[in-house]
Amino acid sequence: MAEQVVADLRDKCETPAALLREVASEMAHEMDAGLEKEGGSRVKMLLSYVDKLPTGREEGLFYGLDLGGTNFRVLRVQLGGNEKHVVNCDSREVSIPPQLMSGSSSELFCFIASELAKFVTDEKYANKSNGKKRELGFTFSFPVKQRSVASGTLVKWTKAFSISDAVGKDVVAELQTAMEKQGLDMHVAALINDAVGTLAGARYHDKDVVAGVIFGTGTNAAYVEKANAIPKCEGELPNSGDMVINMEWGNFCSSHLPVTEYDQELDKESLNPGEQASISIYEKLMSGMYLGEIVRRVLLKISLHSSIFGNIDHTKLKTYFLLRTPHISAMHHDETPDLKIVAEILEENIEITGTSLETRKLVVEICDIVARRAARLAAAGLAGILKKLGRDCNAQDQRSVIAIDGGLFEHYTKFRECLEITLGELLGEEASKSVAVKHADDGSGIGAALIAASQSQCRNVE
Ligand code: BG6
Ligand code: GLC
Repeated sequence: MAEQVVADLRDKCETPAALLREVASEMAHEMDAGLEKEGGSRVKMLLSYVDKLPTGREEGLFYGLDLGGTNFRVLRVQLGGNEKHVVNCDSREVSIPPQLMSGSSSELFCFIASELAKFVTDEKYANKSNGKKRELGFTFSFPVKQRSVASGTLVKWTKAFSISDAVGKDVVAELQTAMEKQGLDMHVAALINDAVGTLAGARYHDKDVVAGVIFGTGTNAAYVEKANAIPKCEGELPNSGDMVINMEWGNFCSSHLPVTEYDQELDKESLNPGEQASISIYEKLMSGMYLGEIVRRVLLKISLHSSIFGNIDHTKLKTYFLLRTPHISAMHHDETPDLKIVAEILEENIEITGTSLETRKLVVEICDIVARRAARLAAAGLAGILKKLGRDCNAQDQRSVIAIDGGLFEHYTKFRECLEITLGELLGEEASKSVAVKHADDGSGIGAALIAASQSQCRNVE
């Protein structure tokens, strides 16, 4: 029975290259539809109002706030200017207390502002602002409908956040109010998504970066579009003629996505189910928040229908999000001859003891199926962006770099390797030579400070 469950899972999660090419084409098509008109696609293609990326000439002391990944971060970034590409960065990481993720908007922003106030008070640079108002770039990793580069209303929460009174509110105004209550005299110069920040941070060092992508708790991508190719871009076109688009591709959906009963149930029971229960969503098939949960659901089914885990109490195994992606990564990478790490994780987290080596191998296989499907679908998304940009064919005179950040890409080696191999498979040998995937370490925090710097320099020039 257990073997049958795994065999079915393997079948349903198959992602042959032909299917991935369909997914890539649909992604490119949905990108066009999302640019056409508001609500034109599930891929929202949100305007970021960032119309130019860092040049290397940004200079001065800037602050960054980074909310939406595993940890909340406060940063202080000293930019060197004169194309020196010197960045000195100090940062502090704080985890958001879980109750604040579903409390009220004012509680969340109050917490953020108080952490920022502590950081600023502690700093040895307390006088470094030289009497000038401190400038801040705010990375807010959720879908926001922006009205300018420094304002925007929350469209909906994703990942583990669900604070209903914040939806529809301007998150910069919320932050500004909370900062004032803390007596912080700071100005929010830019509000950006983490994918946009990753693009900006990576472009600062490499002009060939065409997209910033996150594979972390959630997943998303941003790239530069010609403003006159965005029919829904109303009003004045930016002077630079460009506009960075925050795709919000986590909401992409296609009949080609290989969806299983586990994904459908996960979607239905999630904080943010798809409008139709039978539709599963890209982010839930491939981001760090969900991979461990999918594996847990498969293990539960096996345990309820077979005795390979022994006669266990299912209370633990029935607990949502009990297995996290770092657990399945550790099991998947277990190279000990008797799969000792798998045994330990099963024992410590789900109270499954005394498993046979065969059973542990089956668990590793489940992790492999789930992570492999994720990585291959992720590669199809990247191929979709390259297709849309006309960079998916042999174009060796035109280097295209995709900058990627996020814990899943950074820490899950097999995910990353499979993603890179699959992208090569989809592009073909020749086209692959001009495409590079690179890890952008902490791109979005610094990216936010860089965008804040270029906004503030523009204002000073005006
Ligand atoms: C970080 C960014 O490097 O990556 C965050 O600065 C982003 O803004 C994050 O959300 C994604 O990673 P994770 O794995 O923590 O969700
Ligand atoms: C979710 C958010 C998106 C963010 C991504 C990665 O998909 O909706 O805004 O960029 O996670 O953090």
